[in-house]
Amino acid sequence: MGLYEVMRTRRSIRSFKSDPIPDNTLRRVLEAARIAPSGSNRQPWRFTVVKNRGLIGSIVNACERQGFVSEAPMLMIACGQDMKY
Ligand SMILES: Cc1cc2nc3c(=O)[nH]c(=O)nc-3n(C[C@H](O)[C@H](O)[C@H](O)COP(=O)(O)O)c2cc1C
Repeated sequence: MGLYEVMRTRRSIRSFKSDPIPDNTLRRVLEAARIAPSGSNRQPWRFTVVKNRGLIGSIVNACERQGFVSEAPMLMIACGQDMKY
């Protein structure tokens, strides 16, 4: 599938299988995020992967209690750094 077709047919997912994510898939996603462009190449972000079920459950509160978050087999949390000039 070409890039335009991927963009045209993508949608938000709010229901997840419990299948574990293979490590090489996770690495590819993290690598795609790592090489994303940023102003002055500051890369003002940090990514945290959470696999622990208990921790995932407690993070639901920080996601405005959207319960579907707790069904995900893992979370990849992107945090932006507040860059002061
Ligand atoms: C910055 C951003 C934040 C979003 N936050 C939520 C969210 O907290 N909960 C949720 O269910 N969807 C969230 N969405 C998904 C949007 O609701 C969704 O993109 C929109 O309804 C269009 O549907 P689609 O993504 O399936 O095309 C968010 C989307 C963006 C871009």
